[in-house]
Amino acid sequence: MKFFIDTADIAEIRDLAATGLVDGVTTNPSLIAKSGRDFLEVLAEICDVVPGPVSAEVAATDTQGMLAEGRALAKVAQNVAVKVPLTPDGLKACRTLSGEGTAVNVTLCFSPAQALLAAKAGASYVSPFVGRLDDIGSDGMALIAEIVELYMAQPELETEVLVASVRHPMHVVEAAKMGAQVATLPPKVLRQMFQHPLTDKGLSDFLADWEKTGQSILKAGSAAQ
Ligand code: G3P
Repeated sequence: MKFFIDTADIAEIRDLAATGLVDGVTTNPSLIAKSGRDFLEVLAEICDVVPGPVSAEVAATDTQGMLAEGRALAKVAQNVAVKVPLTPDGLKACRTLSGEGTAVNVTLCFSPAQALLAAKAGASYVSPFVGRLDDIGSDGMALIAEIVELYMAQPELETEVLVASVRHPMHVVEAAKMGAQVATLPPKVLRQMFQHPLTDKGLSDFLADWEKTGQSILKAGSAAQ
């Protein structure tokens, strides 16, 4: 499974990219607004730090506007994936941009029917929002299971399921078990995935016992006499 990070915070991206675990980045207009940065400038910077796909979302709502914006975004770097909303206009733009060789991420997907349309439109990625479904008392992960099943039953569809609106590590674990190809994680969730109290306790106990030996791995024969 590929891990993308869902942020436009360049400091966070640099920090997490250094782990070697980040395969791409997703942004959206809210994350760009939160960054306080110029969109194209921060996009170029992110594309430089992370060689994998970097999703950048159009703001226009009509096909022609989305095409103009999408082409401008795609010019920023070769690893830009243009994000369009799951609307009739968005899917028309998806079809054209995909035909031009631009990777397209169709966002704001909330049903298997929508996911089927995105794949038919040639999307490289479809982004179902699991957390926002959970928020309204629906089952976000059930949607992922349905989309994965649907795409597997139609092998000619090449769209990857990009699990978005992730709120906690179990969303990621469940998505991986279901066979989703990508999850986009808020930085906090990626950091949470490292954590377990028994890892901390075990490490602390090992270090205390190692201290007692008086040895240093880098100094041969250093055992305390
Ligand atoms: O980038 C799309 C998605 O991940 C947004 O998540 O937390 O705003 O529902 P959230």
